[in-house]
Amino acid sequence: MDVREIKLEVLDRQGFIRQQCSAIAAEVGDGTAVNALSGGVDSSVVTMLAHRALGRRLKTFFIDNGLMRHGEPQRVVSILRECGVPVELVDAQEEFFEALKGKSDPEEKRQAITDTFYQGVFSRLVRASGANYLLQGTIFTDVEETVAGIKRQHNILSQLGIDTALSYGYSVIEPLIQLRKPAVRAVGQALGLPEEIVNRPPFPGPALATRVIGEATPERIALVRKATVILEHELAAVDAFQYMAILHNDRIPGMRNGKRDYGLQIEVRCWDTQNAVTARPTHLPFDLLERLAGRMTAEVPGVVSVTYNIASKPPSTMEAV
Ligand code: XMP
Repeated sequence: MDVREIKLEVLDRQGFIRQQCSAIAAEVGDGTAVNALSGGVDSSVVTMLAHRALGRRLKTFFIDNGLMRHGEPQRVVSILRECGVPVELVDAQEEFFEALKGKSDPEEKRQAITDTFYQGVFSRLVRASGANYLLQGTIFTDVEETVAGIKRQHNILSQLGIDTALSYGYSVIEPLIQLRKPAVRAVGQALGLPEEIVNRPPFPGPALATRVIGEATPERIALVRKATVILEHELAAVDAFQYMAILHNDRIPGMRNGKRDYGLQIEVRCWDTQNAVTARPTHLPFDLLERLAGRMTAEVPGVVSVTYNIASKPPSTMEAV
């Protein structure tokens, strides 16, 4: 891997911002670029940098892939608009669900999301806008894990030998590729992004599809979305790197109204980690776990079992898919 990390300790935030803005401006030249905003800190920082570098020659899109958390697309778009960045919300839900239809294998699901995003939705948007550049928030850890063969991050292309100009008709610019998450947050703060974005817990690009084991249908995504609302509400005060609710594929025996009920199972994971390369389950208070179980079995239709993951990464990974 020929990408060199810039560590937080040596990061000159203003210098980095200046340098990246001129690099983006130089690369795009008189052309135009499009930018995929997902609401995570990485893509929001890229959006701000590119907006600073290109102004109106940047077109920012938020793709609603149907896999986001409750209310997330609208919320993110409004925050960035408040920061002065015009964002267009694109509804591509049907296209993603069509691509995910019948797919249960984790890598196939990731691949379907990657292809729909880059070859489908984004190729069309780029062509329609006449742009020849796509800016995206790939960070150092994404490259590292993909190159190491741990997990194929959805946004890694050139490091896997994919020539985007040839395959998709546009070049990809990745201003954050030398940074890990804490450094990205520091740059975000220096760019004036609000706390809600700067300290947003990481959320993967393939979104809730990584939290559904087996097929990610609209119905199953809706269930895990509901469980996620409960989880994020109950754990809001917990100081952890990331937490997630996962919908399992197997139905298991439970009982409801005095009768056997083959129901659904939700697994909760909550992680302490510095860099997401290794991670340990957070020691959550048992009464909090019980409250979660109570709410999920009562409020998420069909759920009869709620478990808490106690395995570390490795050998686990943080997401289930
Ligand atoms: P894993 O599951 O690989 O997760 O242990 C490590 C960190 O990476 C995030 N993650 C992703 N982020 N695209 C992303 O943008 C992905 O495909 C992806 N997969 C995992 C995960 O949420 C965790 O923070």
